[in-house]
Amino acid sequence: MIYFDNAATSFFKPQQVKNAVVDSINKFTANPGRSGHNLSIQTAEVVYNVREKIKEFFNAPNYEVVFTKNCTEALNLAIFGVLNKGDHVITTCYEHNSVLRPLEKLKECGVEVTTLFCDVEELPNEIAKNIKENTKLIITTACSNVTGQCPDIKTIGEIAKQHNVLYLVDGAQSSGHIKIDLTDANIDLYAFAGHKGLLAITGVGGLIIKNGIKINPFLYGGTGTESANLTQPSEIPEGLEAGTIPTIPIISLGAGIDFLTKNFFKIIKIEQNLTKYLINKAKNLKFLKIYSPVNAKNVFSFNVKDLDSSLVANILNEQFNICVRAGLHCSPLIHKKLGTLTTGAVRVSLDFFNTFDEIDELINALIKINNMR
Ligand code: ALA
Repeated sequence: MIYFDNAATSFFKPQQVKNAVVDSINKFTANPGRSGHNLSIQTAEVVYNVREKIKEFFNAPNYEVVFTKNCTEALNLAIFGVLNKGDHVITTCYEHNSVLRPLEKLKECGVEVTTLFCDVEELPNEIAKNIKENTKLIITTACSNVTGQCPDIKTIGEIAKQHNVLYLVDGAQSSGHIKIDLTDANIDLYAFAGHKGLLAITGVGGLIIKNGIKINPFLYGGTGTESANLTQPSEIPEGLEAGTIPTIPIISLGAGIDFLTKNFFKIIKIEQNLTKYLINKAKNLKFLKIYSPVNAKNVFSFNVKDLDSSLVANILNEQFNICVRAGLHCSPLIHKKLGTLTTGAVRVSLDFFNTFDEIDELINALIKINNMR
């Protein structure tokens, strides 16, 4: 089996992540931040250490980490927690439905939304041009899950800071694949998924919030603090993490980050070489329509002439044992821009454990599929 669906969830988990899962089932089964006994305190300490590791990994000393169940929940927390009636938000066609759908809902509540359809290189200028008196928030992905294009988040962060507008970055695809420095890029809010490039098991994501930013809770309930108080405590992270947090996925995330910290530059180099190799090989196949640029990060989307993407993905799965993702990838607006709303696109998403031989097998499979027509 060849696994090229790492943008959906990474297949390879380092041994230390697997060990951390088993270890935490045995050792850290108590509820952190709730009870005063040793087991609860030890579990809370391990969770605290993971928050610190995340802050270090993303260079975010002046931020807090709020755990959620995935990146979608983190984005919802940020979007619903920041925007109010009368606010204006700027976003882009490169976004996932986890940004677009909350914004569509907020339109009903009097939030004004500007969605930019320009090329990725033009985003900083277009964002600057569209900032108004009531602009409260800019939202961009750090890397498109369809094309692998990466907006210039550092320049956008600078523009946001100059205009005193908050900047939320969707880091679902970038985390663990691209060096992200939250402090340097002036990012106010950064949402991540644990189970993709950060190599954790599923069940954890998070929102990294710059100190001083006020976010309304998305979920109300027990925090283990101020229990006599019937209103939600405002402390971050507790006030934004109502209910028991997913301890075992969080501990696996800590182990994933340890692995990445040790190997990050090697991993980035391997992924760059694999992506370049794939794109160069694919460019020679004249029957492919290619949607990813040469500098795409880890993600490569295409179609085999005008064949439906799902058909190609099914043949790759059934006849060649190659896992890819077809369709719209929950990101309809970029497909609208590419003209692929009806066919979708076939997406190959790489991780550092993939090999050049696997890419050669994919290329040979695509040649065979084209010859079947
Ligand atoms: N958002 C994930 C993807 O792009 C699930 O496949």
